[in-house]
Amino acid sequence: MPCEECRELTTHLFRGVDDLVNAVRLASEETERGVLSRLTTRELSNAEQQAVDSSLSSGALPHRVHFRFKCEVCGDRFTLSANPTTGEGGWTREGDDVPSPIDLNSPKDAAAWEETAMHKRPWRADFFERIAGEIASAPGPARILELGSGPGFLARQLLQRLPEVTMHLLDQSNAMHALARDRLGELAARATFLTASFKEPDWPDRLGPYDFVVTLQAVHELRHKRHALPLHRQVRSVLRPDGVYLIADHYCGPGGMANDQLYLRIDEQQAALREAGFTQVTELLREGGLVLHRAA
Ligand SMILES: C[S@@+](CC[C@H](N)C(=O)[O-])C[C@H]1O[C@@H](n2cnc3c(N)ncnc32)[C@H](O)[C@@H]1O
Ligand SMILES: [Zn+2]
Repeated sequence: MPCEECRELTTHLFRGVDDLVNAVRLASEETERGVLSRLTTRELSNAEQQAVDSSLSSGALPHRVHFRFKCEVCGDRFTLSANPTTGEGGWTREGDDVPSPIDLNSPKDAAAWEETAMHKRPWRADFFERIAGEIASAPGPARILELGSGPGFLARQLLQRLPEVTMHLLDQSNAMHALARDRLGELAARATFLTASFKEPDWPDRLGPYDFVVTLQAVHELRHKRHALPLHRQVRSVLRPDGVYLIADHYCGPGGMANDQLYLRIDEQQAALREAGFTQVTELLREGGLVLHRAA
């Protein structure tokens, strides 16, 4: 439970740069008052840390805003993380899920995501390639589950390149499934669309066993890294004993993301995969802030 001193510092998204500036101002006032203290973030390099420090004292925002604080009264920790140009981001009490700035269940946000995904990160194509290569090297017609399949970019590549595979596409967004159906066209004959949340305990019921579970840029949609281990365990439970989990997502740390509540560091991801029962965990590809692991 938050204490009297920090109870108004609630998890919320910023509506714009003004909210971000107000949050930085409030945090520095509370720091001066002795209620909050700054924690250093080991995800930042020394130079980035210096830029962050000087911005707190001068009020000028650095290239990337990412501060952590601790309430000196009750010990609760907070993250203030945002893009200073747009204000996109928010204030999170650590342990709370990190709110999402977009609603991927809405047709409008789903279409906007689809439209920009490949321009924003053209190197996603390298991930498609690598995932397809891994599946192609396995014998026999693979049964594949994709988690958070979205508009079907990866599914299209896999179904096109690997004529024998069949896929289950799991996503909680029917808006995304509609986009995927369009993208797949006739390839959809080898796909089954499942509308479910991979954050729920029961999604694995009656599914599997699969030869591969694949996922790209979706696991962080759990909205907090603490949910990753339970998900990895569920994935293990729907794989055949010799099945393979190919998981690609953003990571926290140099070259990657700053929010250490939402995103796992690479070592944390590997530890979570091992703890979930995967004994062979290998990094296959790291590019543009995304990392692909193979876990078996
Ligand atoms: C950022 S998109 C990535 C889509 C796709 N994997 C790609 O890379 O092109 C994340 C996807 O995960 C889905 N998603 C988010 N939370 C989910 C949940 N709890 N269960 C199932 N799908 C979810 C969203 O609807 C969206 O389609
Ligand atoms: Zn407190």
